Amino acid sequence: MEVRLFGASGTSVPVLGQGTWQIQSSDVVVRTLQRGVDLGMTHIDTAELYTGAEEVVGRAIRGRRDDVFLVSKVMPKNASRRGVVAACERSLKKLGTDSLDCFLLHWSDGSHPIADTMLGMRDLLWQGKVRNVGVSNFDVGQLEEAAAALDEYELVCNQVRYNLIDRSIEDEVIGWCEARGVAVVGYSPFEGLADYSAAQRAALETVGARYEKTVRQVILRYLTRSSSLFAIPKASSLAHVEENAGGEGFELTADDLAVIEAAFPAGSAG
Ligand SMILES: NC(=O)c1ccc[n+]([C@@H]2O[C@H](COP(=O)([O-])OP(=O)(O)OC[C@H]3O[C@@H](n4cnc5c(N)ncnc54)[C@H](OP(=O)(O)O)[C@@H]3O)[C@@H](O)[C@H]2O)c1
Repeated sequence: MEVRLFGASGTSVPVLGQGTWQIQSSDVVVRTLQRGVDLGMTHIDTAELYTGAEEVVGRAIRGRRDDVFLVSKVMPKNASRRGVVAACERSLKKLGTDSLDCFLLHWSDGSHPIADTMLGMRDLLWQGKVRNVGVSNFDVGQLEEAAAALDEYELVCNQVRYNLIDRSIEDEVIGWCEARGVAVVGYSPFEGLADYSAAQRAALETVGARYEKTVRQVILRYLTRSSSLFAIPKASSLAHVEENAGGEGFELTADDLAVIEAAFPAGSAG
């Protein structure tokens, strides 16, 4: 599995990780997450919002905590300075670990000033309960605010929606993050896939045929095509996670990119 530096964390993280939104609590799901880790998809993304998911992840990583890059998120309503610390402690307990590799503010809704949340994040860094701090669903203005509030600490990532139907982060967010060495973690990579037109599907199949890759594998490769980009597809079965793990290890040419982008123009609505 291809790895790249995760922002300023100093840690190499696989380009493809694993999401856990709406995962069920079952042995199959636990084995799927473990299979993903075995295949190199060691970045596991979860959140206090994802009911039951942190416990499932905790089961999956028991005895192999050091093999994973573990990320969780605090909800905005809990993101006061003290609330962030309390939320992290709850997540750690559910995950069965004593530290997170990265802790994110899930989104900002004004419940608490971003600067207050970042003070809580700094407390967690100080206490060693988190190794890195990131945000999610932040626009450039919010990114500036968070980065300034972290002061001497680095903002390492922004986790944002990124798929072929919604390429809006290409307008400003990716550029801002690349210029400052902030990782861009794209979520919901397969959103809209069921509604692709026949022409869109054919474009992806044409590119996939060049590398013996599936449509989903081409999508994941496209979404991780440059050095700041990561993707975190969610899968609930061995077959799905194994297919997704194959979404790397090949390079899309300029012609491939042109074929894909002609089928999915930036700004196109799904
Ligand atoms: N920060 C945020 O605000 C935010 C928002 C949304 C998501 N996220 C994170 O990003 C992760 C991924 O996004 P997502 O869960 O919205 O959607 P996604 O990864 O784009 O798609 C997940 C769906 O695709 C299916 N799937 C996955 N691999 C497949 C394969 N190889 N073949 C057929 N079907 C496949 C899954 O089915 P099965 O489950 O049956 O395998 C599931 O129904 C989330 O789980 C979460 O961790 C973050």
